[in-house]
Amino acid sequence: MPADAPLRLFWFLPTSGDGPYLGSQIGWRPAEFGYMREIAQAADRLGFEGVLLPTGPSCFDGWTLASALAPLTERLKFLVALRPGIIAPAYAARQAAALDQILGGRLLLNIVTGGNPAELAQDGVHLAHDERYRQTEEFLTIWRAAAAGLPIRFEGQHLRSESPGKLVFPSVQKPYPPLYFGGSSDAGLDVAGKHVDYYLTWGEPPEAVAEKFAAARAAAARHGRTLRFGLRIHLIVRETEAEAWDAAERLISKVTDEAIEAARERRLRLAESEGQRRMTALHGFRRDALEIAPNLWAGVGLIREGAGTALVGDPETVAAGLRAYQAVGVDTVIASGYPHLEEAYKVAELLFPALGVERPRGERRIVGRDFAESRLVPAS
Ligand SMILES: Cc1cc2nc3c(=O)[nH]c(=O)nc-3n(C[C@H](O)[C@H](O)[C@H](O)COP(=O)(O)O)c2cc1C
Repeated sequence: MPADAPLRLFWFLPTSGDGPYLGSQIGWRPAEFGYMREIAQAADRLGFEGVLLPTGPSCFDGWTLASALAPLTERLKFLVALRPGIIAPAYAARQAAALDQILGGRLLLNIVTGGNPAELAQDGVHLAHDERYRQTEEFLTIWRAAAAGLPIRFEGQHLRSESPGKLVFPSVQKPYPPLYFGGSSDAGLDVAGKHVDYYLTWGEPPEAVAEKFAAARAAAARHGRTLRFGLRIHLIVRETEAEAWDAAERLISKVTDEAIEAARERRLRLAESEGQRRMTALHGFRRDALEIAPNLWAGVGLIREGAGTALVGDPETVAAGLRAYQAVGVDTVIASGYPHLEEAYKVAELLFPALGVERPRGERRIVGRDFAESRLVPAS
């Protein structure tokens, strides 16, 4: 893809809650359905390609949420997290096909093995890191056959399946909704190379991302496959550089030293996650060295696990920052900003023009009506 081709810009549904300040209850917005609906409808109308829905015990369930939002949105794609260890693959394939039908072909799946042993134990997953990825590998072997309606007879270490391969309610997208994936360890990269369509990374500096993509490409090549690439990052875009940096400072202005210490302790429980280790190493919990590369700010990661960096600046600067990732292979950006409703507007109004992203014109239909007239279509 040429470096000036349009990027696909996704937004994020903060299903663990949202607010204008990190590490503070001031202005806190719980992840209620009504608020998720407001963000999803804004993202849909503004012209974001899709939204990412994460998974974990602290998240409003993404599958339930996506199906409820389907008739309330027109174009928006739903990138829904799927955790392999906690659901049977053939059943997960039927659920995905049904949700893809309900969404009229707007479902994407993010395969997340998970990196927090305490959270995983809560869901009955007690495997060690590499063993979890082995289970993910077996899960995807069965899931891909089941979702494509292909027969399978498989016996792995963790999972087995025997199926004649008939999917009565198939997905709209063929052979199945696209698979996305996040995970930075060697075990993770190998699963990505073997099974998925999109490899996702959090926002490390572009050179580090380039190295990781090279390893992912090599893993895919070992399986005779290719990958596409996505970036998950926060954006703080304002009309001027000074305003953007003020907004970044304001975002962590309520963060206390105790809160950072608590985050550091929480992070120890995520020590098994290579992706998280790489994110944390970018700031080492130091407040005074957060601009880790030009306009790349690690302040979010002081408090938040997972995606911990933001591109900060005026529209041209942030657009140039994203183009630097595009130059190393990114074609999809999954962005977010606090609070997610207001920042969706800021990104669409300020950054879309700088990136050449087109805003949709006019409403296609009255949202909800088509859905009422649609029905689930069995395979002929
Ligand atoms: C873009 C992206 C999104 C992720 N979303 C989730 C999520 O919703 N829930 C979760 O528990 N882990 C999530 N993860 C974490 C990965 O699933 C993975 O468990 C973690 O990176 C540890 O694997 P590693 O050691 O291979 O890096 C995400 C990772 C990335 C890169």
